[in-house]
Amino acid sequence: MLDKIKELTQTIEAFSIDSKEQLEQFRLEYLSKKGKITSMFDGFDFKTVAPEIKKSMGQEMNKLKVLAQTKFEEIQEKLNAGGADNNTHQKIDTSLPSIPNELGGRHPISVVREQIYTVFERMGFSLSDGPEIEDDFHNFTALNFPENHPAREMQDTFFIERNPDIVLRTHTSSVQVRVMENQKPPIRTISPGRVYRNEAISARAHCMFHQIEGLYVDKNVSFADLKNTLYHFSKEMFGKDTQIRFRPSFFPFTEPSAEMDISCFICNGKGCNICKQSGWVEIGGAGMLDPNVLTNCNIDPKVYSGFAFGMGIERITMLKYQIKDLRLFTENDVRFLRQFKHAE
Ligand code: DAH
Repeated sequence: MLDKIKELTQTIEAFSIDSKEQLEQFRLEYLSKKGKITSMFDGFDFKTVAPEIKKSMGQEMNKLKVLAQTKFEEIQEKLNAGGADNNTHQKIDTSLPSIPNELGGRHPISVVREQIYTVFERMGFSLSDGPEIEDDFHNFTALNFPENHPAREMQDTFFIERNPDIVLRTHTSSVQVRVMENQKPPIRTISPGRVYRNEAISARAHCMFHQIEGLYVDKNVSFADLKNTLYHFSKEMFGKDTQIRFRPSFFPFTEPSAEMDISCFICNGKGCNICKQSGWVEIGGAGMLDPNVLTNCNIDPKVYSGFAFGMGIERITMLKYQIKDLRLFTENDVRFLRQFKHAE
C-alpha cells in the first residue's frame, strides 16, 4: 500500500497542467468520487494493517490527498487570474493596427464663448464671474428694476426662496453689480455665464442659456466708446465687412438703451432666410449705465460714466454655424457635437 501511495505521489507531482482542460482532467483522475485517491481509500481495509503502521499509513494517505487538492487549487487560481479564456500559448499579434482612441471635442458654446472673450481680452477687458444663484439685490434692485417690474414675476424668474428673494439669475448683468461693488474704476470686464428663465422649451427658447456681459466704467466714457467697441468686436468676430446698427430700446439699468444688430454675414446684407430678408440680425442689448446703477454700487455718477452690453452666446453660435434649433445644445447628441470637433 505504501508503494502505491508513493507511486501516486510521484505521478501527481509530475502531472503537467497548462490549461483548464488539463486541470479538469487532473480533477477527474485524482479528486473526483471515482478518482484514484478516493477509490484507493474506499477499496482499502484498515483491519488488515498491522497496528504499529496503521497510524503512519493513515498520515501518508492524508498527505497524498492534501497534495492533490493543493495542486488543484493553486493551478486553478493561476489560470483564473489570467482571464476567462486564459491560454498561456496565446500569442499577441503586434502587427495588428491599433484601435484608435477617439478624442472628444469642445462644446460649440464653449468654442464661441472663448472666441468672444479673446476679442475683448485683446481690447483690455478682464474676465469676471459671479454666482448663478443670486439675491434680489444683484439680479434686480441694484440694476434699477422697479419693485413691480414684470421681469420679477413668476413667469420669467425661477425663485428659490421668497421674501427675501433668492433667484436663479435671469441675466449676467448681476455680475456687473458684483464687479462694481468690489472694484474701483477704471473697470473694463466681461462676464460670460449661464442664465435661467422660466420659459417653455422650443427651437427658439430655453429655460437655461448663456450670456456674455460687458462693462466699462471710467471718467468720460461715452456712447461713441460703446459703438466703437462693439463695432470692433463685430468685425473681429464676424468678418471685416460687418456693419452694425443700434435701435432705440429700453432696459432699466441703461439710459439710453439700444438693441444691437449686425449686417447679416450669411448674405452680406442682401437678405436671406437667416436674417428674414432684412439684411440685419440682432445680437444683443447695450446702453449707457443708468446713474442709479452706479450709485447703487457706490460709484459716483458725477465723476464716472460707463457702458454695458449683453449678448446671448447661443444666439451668436446659432448665427455663426447656422444652427436652427436651440435644443440641440443641451441634448448631447454626439452626431451634432462631433461637427464642432475642429472648430476654433
Ligand atoms: N440683461 C439684458 C438681458 O438679459 C441684456 C443687456 C442689455 C445687458 C443691455 C446689458 C445691457 O448690459 O446694457 O436681456
